[in-house]
Amino acid sequence: MKRKMSVLDFKKYKTEGKKFAYATAYDYTTASIVNESDVEVILCGDSLGMIMLGYSSTTPVTMDDMVHHTRAVVKGAPHTFVVGDMPFGSYQVSKEQAIENAARLIKETGCDCVKLEGGVEMAEIIAAIVNVGIPVMGHLGLTPQTATSLGGFKVQGGTPKSAKKLIEDAKTITEAGVFSIVLECVPSGVAKAMTAAVDVPILGIGAGPYVDCQVLLTHDLLGMYGDFRPKFVKVYKNIRKEMVEGLNAFRQEALDGTFPTKEFSFNAKVEGFETE
Ligand code: KIV
Repeated sequence: MKRKMSVLDFKKYKTEGKKFAYATAYDYTTASIVNESDVEVILCGDSLGMIMLGYSSTTPVTMDDMVHHTRAVVKGAPHTFVVGDMPFGSYQVSKEQAIENAARLIKETGCDCVKLEGGVEMAEIIAAIVNVGIPVMGHLGLTPQTATSLGGFKVQGGTPKSAKKLIEDAKTITEAGVFSIVLECVPSGVAKAMTAAVDVPILGIGAGPYVDCQVLLTHDLLGMYGDFRPKFVKVYKNIRKEMVEGLNAFRQEALDGTFPTKEFSFNAKVEGFETE
């Protein structure tokens, strides 16, 4: 069984140039599958709003949703580092609100750290959470909770000015205390420069090959979510197709009577009740 990573391992891996992988789970069974794999880190992300709950964005997701799902993920993944995501509106109001909700996520789920989105403007909030002893993972680049103000789900850091701003954001939140940073949808060269600029690991999703760790959503990489597929997603297995085929095979046998055979039935004789 794999050894569970600790917060300290993140920096150690970076120093040693050791790469690792990071995938999502939102429920017990999926978490137990990721736990059984060699993937080192699980995110119970607020992307569950779209993937589990059918919303068109992550913004409606609540603290109650995150607690409910993250608790199940932690139960399913005892040997994997689990990240709990802070939903939109749960940390931006004040340091007090952020600490209260971060502590709730840790206490009520048992996850190993919290993740929140934002750069310079979130530095004080990040420092406040870190100062009470809760590890914080940052999230820069395309930040889905505020995608509308970024002009939609688009590549970020595409101009020299915005790329420099992203790297400044990374330095500032590292000084504020994050132990790692998710970097979403930025050009590879910008991600490479950020990876060199800070001493915490950069966890890239749609950020090219020069980062410290690759992130993908499990439902994307296993082809479960449907036809929508961002450019950066590689589908390693098409589980959705296999699931539909399995369901259709079950239905066909249910209709033609070839399921269940005796093998799948309780065959004890009960007086007065014949089976033939
Ligand atoms: O919620 C999520 O799944 C995320 C990933 C896109 C990193 O934040």
